Amino acid sequence: MKDLIKKVTEAFGPSGAEGSVREVIRKEIEPYVDEIRVDALGNLIALKKGKGGKKVILDGHMDEIGLMVTHIDDKGFLRFGNIGGVNPFVALGQRVYFENGTMGVIGSERVDDPKDLKLEKLFIDIGAKSKEEAAAKVNVGDSCAFYQPFVDLGDRVVAKAMDDRIACVVIIEVLKRLKDAPHDIYAVFATQEEVGLRGARAAAYGITPDVGIAFDVTRTGDTPKARTMEVSLGGGAAIKVKDSSVIAHPALKNYMVKVAKEKGIKYQMEVLEAGGTDTSAIQMTKAGIPAGCISIPCRYIHSPCEMVDMGDVEACVLLAKALCESSLEF
Ligand code: CO
Ligand code: ZN
Repeated sequence: MKDLIKKVTEAFGPSGAEGSVREVIRKEIEPYVDEIRVDALGNLIALKKGKGGKKVILDGHMDEIGLMVTHIDDKGFLRFGNIGGVNPFVALGQRVYFENGTMGVIGSERVDDPKDLKLEKLFIDIGAKSKEEAAAKVNVGDSCAFYQPFVDLGDRVVAKAMDDRIACVVIIEVLKRLKDAPHDIYAVFATQEEVGLRGARAAAYGITPDVGIAFDVTRTGDTPKARTMEVSLGGGAAIKVKDSSVIAHPALKNYMVKVAKEKGIKYQMEVLEAGGTDTSAIQMTKAGIPAGCISIPCRYIHSPCEMVDMGDVEACVLLAKALCESSLEF
């Protein structure tokens, strides 16, 4: 799975520019699904047919946070706005890359008090010596992503865009391992989550499933002096109870716990106090869809160095596969 994680996380795909990552995922899943399509929002939707059971969505978002060029100044420095939640303290000093291969580094205006470090104080330097030289490589409206290679630390791995490519990997693995499931499994690799759960909303409306299961990263409380949080890295698949966008369907949440216990899959309960997920977009589709979420514990979310534990990733795959194979009567 590590090779797949490397390939999928290193693909380019800030919200609205998910084309490259979509092609990487399409190639991976094509042999394992019956139908595949891309909708108007760019969602990649694959169907693995069952035997007349329920319609089930497995959703993970393809997009990552990034930066969008808003202005090129006379000296060739780029000003930018954020795509999703970008922290200026995390961004400063990072390398970024554009889809056409242009690289840049993030610098800052003089800031005397660290409290004054805001995104508008930062700029991207692509090494251009003039506005003309910069404009030949990058246009206003182009987006870029943090540039960091995948790192294998053993049981744990680090990459940019684990949020939410690690969920894409979990769903790809489920599609690969699932044989003869009773249900119609719709894998939704969604767009534009980081800017407001937009892709999943349209995809869920188009499919109108009986059950929706989203997959996303969740933060942990196990680093030095972290904000209190029950979830820890290595603690197993995190079954969402609540985040700031959704309360998971209680009966589905309890059913997930029951299946995890029956199959001996390591799990932990997740209450995420700040942060939303596609779960809520799916849940509020049409007259309402029972929706829940399996979260992958992740440290340093929305940084270029997001860390996950391979045991947790495997537990998420096993739980998702077990759910797809179960009756889903809850
Ligand atoms: Co995110
Ligand atoms: Zn996410």
